[in-house]
Amino acid sequence: MDVVTSADRPDLEQQAAEAFRVTWPEFVFHDPVATQLVARVCTYFPQYDVLLLDGGRVVAGGWGVPIAWDGSVADLPEGYDGALARAVDGHESGVDVTTLCLMAAAVAQDEGRRGLAGEVLSALRRRAADAGLVHVVAPLRPTTKARYPLVPMSRFATWTRADGLSVDPWLRTHQRLGATVLGPAPRSMVITGTVAEWESWTAMVFPESGRYVVPDALNLVDIDLEDDVGTYVEENLWVRHV
Ligand SMILES: CC(C)(COP(=O)(O)OP(=O)(O)OC[C@H]1O[C@@H](n2cnc3c(N)ncnc32)[C@H](O)[C@@H]1OP(=O)(O)O)[C@@H](O)C(=O)NCCC(=O)NCCS
Repeated sequence: MDVVTSADRPDLEQQAAEAFRVTWPEFVFHDPVATQLVARVCTYFPQYDVLLLDGGRVVAGGWGVPIAWDGSVADLPEGYDGALARAVDGHESGVDVTTLCLMAAAVAQDEGRRGLAGEVLSALRRRAADAGLVHVVAPLRPTTKARYPLVPMSRFATWTRADGLSVDPWLRTHQRLGATVLGPAPRSMVITGTVAEWESWTAMVFPESGRYVVPDALNLVDIDLEDDVGTYVEENLWVRHV
């Protein structure tokens, strides 16, 4: 298994995008903060965008952004959007960074359950240590949380199995690498769209105003027909690796 970054192998961009795009719900591609900042993130931080290659083929990947963080819960960014903004603003104003914030990881569709995601996280942690970053954190999107959209993250985070690890497989992968839970990120990602946009992103219909359970959404989506707006505020979970 080879570990490369998008800085080493820009030619793999298309293959990586195709391998991973199917694993995310459409609405996550309409986060306005990410849409606004993604090009700069790719330009500024390609060293923290790793790909695992098996026989030259992209099988898994993940990325993070370097941020200034003082190690306290109070100084954490608001969540995913906040970490992106802090990384880009910090880079542009020459702030000293201390921390790698892990933003996402994914494995190609036919490559799950081989421990590849853990290898991606370990590769990113090594890069952070090599660059002198002293902390590694993540605003996690627990993969099974979408089945419990009515449960606050603060409760979900306490659900453990007999072995003491989380009921959530993605959180378990982080815990096995030594991560501990810091607490919820209540406004990690905020996505708004017209009702028609939400209907096309979710393949659902929203005939009346109200809060809806949407596939792969960790929280309810609030639909307001009068103002023609759907609002999704995703709550994530901060974990700390080091
Ligand atoms: C989440 C993800 C990265 C895990 O990758 P992976 O390489 O399969 O993970 P691992 O092999 O380390 O498996 C970790 C645990 O998840 C479980 N798991 C993996 N895929 C699963 C699935 N589809 N359904 C249920 N459990 C699953 C494994 O059995 C393992 O459980 P264990 O703790 O009981 O051993 C991968 O499923 C994925 O790409 N998902 C879509 C993108 C995503 O949600 N990323 C995370 C948010 S950024």
